[in-house]
Amino acid sequence: MIEPAAQLTLSLTVNGVPVTRTVPARKHLVDFLREDLGLTGAHLGCEHGVCGACTVRVNGEVVRGCLMLAVQADGARVETVEGLSDTGEIADLQREFHERNALQCGFCTPGMLIAAAELLAQGGTPAREDIRAHMASNYCRCTGYQAIVDAVEATLRARAGGKR
Ligand code: FES
Ligand code: FES
Repeated sequence: MIEPAAQLTLSLTVNGVPVTRTVPARKHLVDFLREDLGLTGAHLGCEHGVCGACTVRVNGEVVRGCLMLAVQADGARVETVEGLSDTGEIADLQREFHERNALQCGFCTPGMLIAAAELLAQGGTPAREDIRAHMASNYCRCTGYQAIVDAVEATLRARAGGKR
């Protein structure tokens, strides 16, 4: 006989909203966000921590949602691309992505935006190679990365007071 999966209750804050749910103990954070909370911005690609499609922030740290169990986020502050978008934190970055065609299918885009937001939070105007290095753990199968780096660079420059 197959034993039912153990269920655990977690309480956390997701995009500023307190949430309590009971989930299978082995459910991953990205599946919890998508299936239990309807936050489908974080995507599921490789499921092995390689592609970055599932990127979210937990207590301010950028993490792979496919490598973390939902119950490990008990008590944490989780932010998804929906939350970053709603607060306006990445409005300028989103505009640059749009204007520079830095997305095609869009599958990688939420993860790219969260990865880029981490770099933007550091401030300054890093060199293109440094932008590429920072974004290197997020994969895109469509764009060739050039436009993504352009968009991130333009946002960094604008925030630093330079021209777009
Ligand atoms: S789905 Fe998590 S890194 Fe690819
Ligand atoms: S836009 Fe399609 S994977 Fe990046």
